[in-house]
Amino acid sequence: MRIAIDGKEIEAKKGQSVLDAALEAGIFIPHLCSRPDLEVKGGCRLCSVEIEGMAGAVPSCMTKAEEGMKITVNGQEAEKIRKTAMELILATHPADCTGCPKYGKCELQSMYQYMGVSAERWRKKSRSVANDDSNPLVSHLFTRCVRCGRCIRACQDLRGVKVLDYIKTDVGIRAGIPDEKSLKEAGCRFCGACIEVCPTGSIMDALNIMKPERSYSENIVLCKSTCPAHIDIPRYIRYIKEGDFERAIAVIREKVPFPATLGSVCTIPARTNVKEKNWAIQFLFAS
Ligand code: SF4
Ligand code: SF4
Ligand code: SF4
Ligand code: FES
Repeated sequence: MRIAIDGKEIEAKKGQSVLDAALEAGIFIPHLCSRPDLEVKGGCRLCSVEIEGMAGAVPSCMTKAEEGMKITVNGQEAEKIRKTAMELILATHPADCTGCPKYGKCELQSMYQYMGVSAERWRKKSRSVANDDSNPLVSHLFTRCVRCGRCIRACQDLRGVKVLDYIKTDVGIRAGIPDEKSLKEAGCRFCGACIEVCPTGSIMDALNIMKPERSYSENIVLCKSTCPAHIDIPRYIRYIKEGDFERAIAVIREKVPFPATLGSVCTIPARTNVKEKNWAIQFLFAS
C-alpha cells in the first residue's frame, strides 16, 4: 500500500506501523521505547506524528499504516508532544553524559541531540539509585533507566525468562529485579538480550563483549557467531539436553561434514578469548 510522509510517497506493508514503514523508507522519526524485534507497547511518545483526519498527534509506532494515509512528522502538535516527552525524560536523568560509560554509543543521547532538546524547562529531580556491579557479566546502573520497558519485554517475551520487571522504588518506577534478588538468584540466563536492547547506559555489558560491528543475533548468540563454522550450538545443546543425540549430530554436520577432523585442527576453543569464553559457558549451562 502507498502512504505519504511529509509529502513523500512510500510503500508500506500490510500490518506495518507508520514508524516501521517510515524507517524502512529512510525517513527518520524519533523513537525510544519501540524496537523492531520487541512487541510494541508505546509510552515514550517520542514517535508522535500527525495524520490527516485524526485529531491531535498519535504515536506512529502504535498506528498501523493504511492505504492513502497522509502523515506529517514535524507538525506543530506532534513536535510539541515529542519535545515535552523528551524534556520530561531528561528531567529525571543524570545531567552530564561525559562521565557515562555509554557516552557516544547511547541511543538516548543521539535522540536528544538530534531533537535539540534539553531538560532546562523542568526542575531536575534526582533519582539516584545505587549501581549494582555485583555481577561480573552485567552491570546495572538504574539511575540511567528511562523506563522504556525494552529490557523487560526482551527478558519476558523474547527470552521467556522473566527476571526483569518494573519495580516500585522510593524514587519512582524503574526496571529491575523484584524482591532485591541478584541476577543469579533470579534465574538470569546471561543471554545478553537486555543489554542489547537497552537504549541508555542503564544495563551494560561489564566485559565489553557486545560488539557494535556484530548484528543483534550475533551479539546474543556468541557461541554460534564466533564459531568459524557458525555451527548452531544452542540448537545442538538443546537436542543433547532432550536426549536426541542423532539430531544433535545432524546439526553439527549441517556445517561440518567431518567434525572429528575439524576438531583436531581448529585452534579456536569455541570462543576467541577467555572473558568471552566464560560468557559462553554461562550461556550454554543456562540453555
Ligand atoms: S545513558 Fe546516555 S544520555 Fe544518559 S548519561 Fe549516559 S550517555 Fe548520557
Ligand atoms: S541477561 Fe538475564 S536479565 Fe537479561 S534478558 Fe537475559 S535472562 Fe533476562
Ligand atoms: S533498563 Fe534500559 S531498557 Fe530497561 S527500562 Fe530502563 S532504559 Fe529501558
Ligand atoms: S517509540 Fe512510539 S511511543 Fe515510544
